[in-house]
Amino acid sequence: MSEPVQVSQAVRVCSVDDLPRVGAAVAEIEGRRVTIARDSAGEIHAFDDTCTHANVSLAEGEVEGDLIECWLHGSQFDMRTGQPRQLPATQPVQVHTVTLEGDDVYVTLAG
Ligand code: FES
Repeated sequence: MSEPVQVSQAVRVCSVDDLPRVGAAVAEIEGRRVTIARDSAGEIHAFDDTCTHANVSLAEGEVEGDLIECWLHGSQFDMRTGQPRQLPATQPVQVHTVTLEGDDVYVTLAG
């Protein structure tokens, strides 16, 4: 991915074409690791990259539908809400706002 470019509060993180057709990549935005993922419907999501169960990268997990599965213990997170759908994780991951301008993907961090 190319260097993020700050535009007001939204940060350009990549082009749509930089993402896997269905899958995830990781970006560092303002010092925070964020997963950028495209679901099977083509929708793009952004959320904190660290699993809430242990310190591993969710971007290395599998995307299926609108869920991402942590590769270590199999917790699945809803990429729209960040809520876990399967144990052992019980806490949600923070989701961030994605906007598209043409082929450019912008993320506005929450909180
Ligand atoms: S580290 Fe993600 S489910 Fe355990």
